[in-house]
Amino acid sequence: MKFHIITLFPEAFDSYLTESIIGRAIKEKRIQVTFTNPRMFVSGKYKKVWPDGNVSRVVDDKPYGGGPGMIIRAEPVLKAVESVTKKIAKRKNAKIKIVNFSPSGEKFTTAYAKTSAKKYTDIIMLCGRYEGIDARVAKILKAQDVSIGDYVLTGGELPAMVLIDSISRQIPGVLGKFESLEEERISSSEFYTRPEVLEYKNKKHRVPKVLLSGDPKKIDEWKNRAKKE
Ligand code: ADE
Repeated sequence: MKFHIITLFPEAFDSYLTESIIGRAIKEKRIQVTFTNPRMFVSGKYKKVWPDGNVSRVVDDKPYGGGPGMIIRAEPVLKAVESVTKKIAKRKNAKIKIVNFSPSGEKFTTAYAKTSAKKYTDIIMLCGRYEGIDARVAKILKAQDVSIGDYVLTGGELPAMVLIDSISRQIPGVLGKFESLEEERISSSEFYTRPEVLEYKNKKHRVPKVLLSGDPKKIDEWKNRAKKE
């Protein structure tokens, strides 16, 4: 699976993608994450070369109809996506999905992650900032609006990381054998490790007895109950 992130802030992803399971999946080439910055595709009156050689590239502009905040212009985003799709098109049998992040979009779930991992080879994610991206972009690209929850975030970078993480877990080999088996089978929301008796502020906190019983049937029943509660 290849994730293609269209973002003005690619550095926001750095530490998350180098850690733990996702870091390992990238190293082992089970997943790939590319970044394309619309700022690099700014041209015309929005691009200015200063006498000292510095270049400013303005990606946003005021909203039509008024209102606070700025809107990311369609042109640099469309050009950024085009540069990505051109590369993808060189591979035969690529199946592309384009996602646009919005708090009012379709709710992202594990079921969505499972379907995406099976159906697509390439997922392009548009990360808006400010008040969002010019609405014509999603329409032109037939992008699907996706929400990761009923709250408003500052941009699409966190939702993109959530999708990368959750979809990657569904790709064969990304989780270790034991982790994926455990996820498929039963996973409770409660976990315990050493010590068996934890002393904290003069009180003893014990691991549930059933987990020490060595009886797999009873342990599974307990995990199922802990999951529902
Ligand atoms: N952009 C801002 N808030 C968001 C959310 N909750 N989900 C997806 N994209 C968003």
